[in-house]
Amino acid sequence: MKVGLLTGGGDCPGLNAVIRAVVRRVSDAGGTCVGVLEGWRGLIRGTFRPLDPREVEPLIGRGGTLLGSSRTNPYKNPDADVPRVRQNLLEAGIDALVVVGGDDTLGVAARLVNDFQMPIVGVPKTIDNDLMLADFSFGFDTAVNVVVEAVERLRTTAESHRRVIVVETMGRNTGWLACFAGMAVGADYVLVPEVPIDVPHLVAALKRVRGSAKNHAIVVVAEGARYLDADPPVLDAEAFGHPRTGGIGALIADVIDRQLRVETRTVVLGHLQRGGAPTAHDRVLATRMGLAAAELVLRRRFGTVLTLRGSQIADVPLDSAALATRSLDLAFYQDAAAFFY
Ligand code: F6P
Repeated sequence: MKVGLLTGGGDCPGLNAVIRAVVRRVSDAGGTCVGVLEGWRGLIRGTFRPLDPREVEPLIGRGGTLLGSSRTNPYKNPDADVPRVRQNLLEAGIDALVVVGGDDTLGVAARLVNDFQMPIVGVPKTIDNDLMLADFSFGFDTAVNVVVEAVERLRTTAESHRRVIVVETMGRNTGWLACFAGMAVGADYVLVPEVPIDVPHLVAALKRVRGSAKNHAIVVVAEGARYLDADPPVLDAEAFGHPRTGGIGALIADVIDRQLRVETRTVVLGHLQRGGAPTAHDRVLATRMGLAAAELVLRRRFGTVLTLRGSQIADVPLDSAALATRSLDLAFYQDAAAFFY
C-alpha cells in the first residue's frame, strides 16, 4: 500500500510527530509513504517527496512540518484544481491519503470524500483548540506553554516599571488559548471573543490590582476579542476567506493607559505560538494520532476522521458536521476570572 501524507493550514509543533508515526506504522506493515508538499497545493501541482522511516525517526521533537503547509483551497477554483488533485493522486499511485489539518484543510478532504469517495483519513490539528473533534488538539499545549514562558519574562519588566502589559495571543475567533494561558500565568484579566469586552469591569479590576500590593498587571487578550455587537480588528483575509484578526491588544492597552493613567505596553506574540519544539504532551498525542490514522488506513476505513475524548482516540465519518468548531467552554473562563481582582 502507498500512503500519502498532507499537512495543511497553520502549522504547529507535533505535525512531524504525526508524520513519523504514520510512516513507521505503514512501513512496519510493508507499505510505503510519500509526502504531499505544502498542503493541498502539492496535489494541485503534483509535488511530492519520499518519506523514509529512517529519515523521519528523529523528527518527534522538531516543530513545523517536514512537508511544508499552505492555506490552499482547491474548491476555490474547482473546475481546474479539483480534477488536478484527483489526477495527481492517481498518477502518484497513492492508495490512501492521511490529511492533517484544521477545519479548512479537513473541510476540503470531506468534500473530496463526499464528491469522489477519495480514500482519505483525517487527523485534527490546530493551536486554537477550536475543533469539536478533539477535547485537545496537538499544538495547543505547546502554544499555551509558549505564552506562559513569554508572560513569565514580561512580568519581571512589568514589575520593574510598575506597568500594565497587555499580551495579545492567537486563537482565531475563540478564546481557548488566551484562557488557558491566562489561567496558567495568573493573569490579572483575560479577554476572550466569547465574553464581550466590558471596559468598566476591566478598569475596575485593574484599579483594585493597583490598590493591592501588586504594582503591575498582566492582561491576556485573545486576537478575536471584541466589543458587544462589533467585530475584532482585522489585518487582512486569507485563502479560506477567514479575516486575519489582530490589533485588539493595542486598542485595549490604549484604553487602560488613558483610563488608569498607568504606563501600559502591548506585546503581540503572533507566530511564536506556532513555532518551536512540541511539548511532551503534544509529542505523545501527535504520535498516538499518527498511529491511529495509520491503523484506519491499513484497515481501509476511509472517509473517517480521528476524535479525542479525554485520552481516548476514536473516529467518526469525515463530513462537514464533524468539522464544526467550538467556542471556549465558559466554565474555564469562570475559573480564570476567579482571580480577577
Ligand atoms: O489557526 C491557527 C492560527 O495560528 C490562528 O490562531 C491565527 O489567527 C492564524 O492561524 C494565523 O494565520 P497565518 O499563519 O496564515 O498568518
